[in-house]
Amino acid sequence: MTRFGRFDDEAREYVITRPDTPLPWINYLGSEGFFGIISNTAGGYTFFRDARLRRLTRYRYNAAPADTGGRFLYLRDAATGAFWSPSWQPVRAGLEDYRCRHGLGYTMIGSRTAGIETETLYFVPLGESLEIWRTTVTNRRADTARLSLFGAVEFCLWDAWDDQTNYQRNLSTGEVQVLDGVVYHTTEYRERRSHFAYFACSEEVSGFDTQREEFLGPYRGWDGPLAVEEGRSRNSIAHGWAPIASHQVELELAPNESREVVFLLGYAENPPDAKFDPPGSTTLDRRAVLPVIERYRQAEEVASAFERLRDRWAELLDVVQVTTPNEHVDRMVNAWTPYQCMATFNLSRSASSFDTGIGRGIGFRDSSQDLLGFVHMVPERARERILDLAATQLPTGGAYHQYQPLTKRGNDAIGSGFNDDPLWLVLAASAYVKETGDRAILDEPVPYDNEWGSEDPLYEHLRRALGYTLDRLGPHGLPLIGRADWNDCLNLNAFSEEPGESFQTVPNREGGVAESVFIAGQFAMAAEELAQLSDLLGKPEEAASARAERERMVAAVREHGWDGAWFRRAYDHMGGVVGSADNDEGQIWIEPQGICVMAGIGSDDGRAARALDSVADRLGTPHGLVLLDPPYSRYHLELGEISSYPPGYKENGGVFSHTNPWIAVADTMIGNPDRAFGHYLRINPSAREELSDVHRCEPYVYAQMIAGKAAPTHGEAKNSWLTGSAAWNLVAITQWILGIRPEHDGLRIDPCLPSGWDGFRAVRRFRGATYRIAITKPVGSTGRIMSMTVGDRRVDGNVVPPAPEGADVTIDGTIA
Ligand code: GLC
Ligand code: GLC
Repeated sequence: MTRFGRFDDEAREYVITRPDTPLPWINYLGSEGFFGIISNTAGGYTFFRDARLRRLTRYRYNAAPADTGGRFLYLRDAATGAFWSPSWQPVRAGLEDYRCRHGLGYTMIGSRTAGIETETLYFVPLGESLEIWRTTVTNRRADTARLSLFGAVEFCLWDAWDDQTNYQRNLSTGEVQVLDGVVYHTTEYRERRSHFAYFACSEEVSGFDTQREEFLGPYRGWDGPLAVEEGRSRNSIAHGWAPIASHQVELELAPNESREVVFLLGYAENPPDAKFDPPGSTTLDRRAVLPVIERYRQAEEVASAFERLRDRWAELLDVVQVTTPNEHVDRMVNAWTPYQCMATFNLSRSASSFDTGIGRGIGFRDSSQDLLGFVHMVPERARERILDLAATQLPTGGAYHQYQPLTKRGNDAIGSGFNDDPLWLVLAASAYVKETGDRAILDEPVPYDNEWGSEDPLYEHLRRALGYTLDRLGPHGLPLIGRADWNDCLNLNAFSEEPGESFQTVPNREGGVAESVFIAGQFAMAAEELAQLSDLLGKPEEAASARAERERMVAAVREHGWDGAWFRRAYDHMGGVVGSADNDEGQIWIEPQGICVMAGIGSDDGRAARALDSVADRLGTPHGLVLLDPPYSRYHLELGEISSYPPGYKENGGVFSHTNPWIAVADTMIGNPDRAFGHYLRINPSAREELSDVHRCEPYVYAQMIAGKAAPTHGEAKNSWLTGSAAWNLVAITQWILGIRPEHDGLRIDPCLPSGWDGFRAVRRFRGATYRIAITKPVGSTGRIMSMTVGDRRVDGNVVPPAPEGADVTIDGTIA
């Protein structure tokens, strides 16, 4: 059992204590438009809004050594000529006392080499498009130290895809301007770009470089730049090739003296018709950006910007704070899971150690579900996200699978016709209204496909989402799957035989036969949510009709979706059943069990309980519930991508984390608290910390996948950070296990607690009031809430109606 660090719960930080983690353990900087990925050795890259089209710095995925490209810092000792990187990479020389503190929106990396201590704080100030590196260097030697500090970045030529493919052009276009000691990256600024990047330093610099090969020296890498080795910058000006920015600062430190040096990496835009100063010249107009640079060159400004960032996070997290008997619950609920949810909100699936920032924009399905995890923290931004997503909906009620973050327009780049997509919007909108009480969003005019003039109230969009499913029913009355449903890899109409062809974009066979039991369950859920919204709007007939459609769908599931001990998964292109005891492989799948039970199917006839027993039995492992069993051992033309993965990986029988909380929620619904909590805890990242050498990904965030029981690397996680697992796990633990659940008419308090607990306390802000909740329960009991007092009044039922803004409400619940 190897750990690579520890949680500092007080500071809400994860402290990594050795640099050679199994994989780069990353964090995110930025929360609005300007973002960076930063690893525990300061690797990663920076971008503005769109990780493909506005990439500031380069990063080399797939490279060796791992985590190549980042925020380069070097210290050189004039006395010996020795040099090192205080963040370990890229030099990787021995460091003492290395530690990396990943906090909420910032990272601090410190170390000591030959008596020189360094600590660097990296963060993006709120409201700014720049990244700060504040390096403090302290001399702990008995004598004066003469040091050179170098800070450097390698620029990406904006479009990250073009940057790594189009060398015949790119090696000639690179341009910079060096003005008053600031390096401006101005590639293509002379023509159609109005944006530029800059790299500035708070101190007087003794030299700079902007041409990579001049700085590194021929055939050398970032681990040993010649300029650093010799302690002498070249003052090079890039013309084509690979533009970089490097600053050299001389430090003379008496014993115990410290110096603070700030590097700024920023992004700015000028109006397209006011790019040059003087007009008509080719000199960048810096008037808008200089005051910003000046501000953050000052230590006090940096310090107060950092304070504001910390306050902002405290405020966001204050919306839900819990004290339970389990430290893994507390630390994930109080800090890390909501924090991860903000990352998925900002970036969907675009930029992580596993998503290169090139392929994917803001996903329709992904963002709709991610919203469940951030709506309570940033309701106004959640509102905007819902409207943005809805504006990409098609007049048919269908959806583009993603939209592009700069233009917010939907596109087909990663496929289309995923028939589950539109229904997620209904769930997102209803979660938003339950949280905020803001029904007015339902009347908000929203266009289809961003076509001006096509506006309909959001509510109509939601109705069309349901209509889209109903317009596409198959032979068993179940929804047609289209290209795929939630499981992107169940491609029943693809029949792909071409190596390398994308299952997501290959032309599909339109058979009108392949059906999804998953979408049926999802429809049942969405129809009830829509019915409640119709009720709210005073449209009882529409509510009744949604409920009638739901009943028809549930009947179809009962008739054709039940296999005897669990819910079936689908019917394929030929009408054959998928996910049945009659199949050789892929007999039982997790998704329909989760979604159907959550939708209330099978609660009255014992099927829900039966299905969840089958899940525990057939899919359970010490590392979580696998997605299906047995995994496919051969490629199945008729099933698509799912069977392209080796057994035990990804959708083919991996522990697909996103689905585990569905089962946890489902188990609370049938009153099985210990099993629900077990499902939750088994994949809780903190609870897996002690398995870090097996798990290998960060112990503070969920990973999309943990290798399943059929995989030789069972227990090894991949694809950390950008996954719907964060939102759904937060929902499972806070809303269903702790049972604090926003509903249209108030806050429901309906805990379903593990038998070993004696209760818990929570503070929840909800629609402007603060609720202080204390639940007590005898250890050993698995009962549900029995009696509740709100303030000093005993109440019937367990829904607390919204209190006036600013009110402080005490809720005591006693479980028998
Ligand atoms: C990935 C996708 C998500 C999909 C899931 C299952 O996590 O981001 O949209 O539902 O895989 O295939
Ligand atoms: C999902 C799946 C992944 C698949 C991708 C295709 O993210 O998890 O396996 O390759 O969808 O878009």
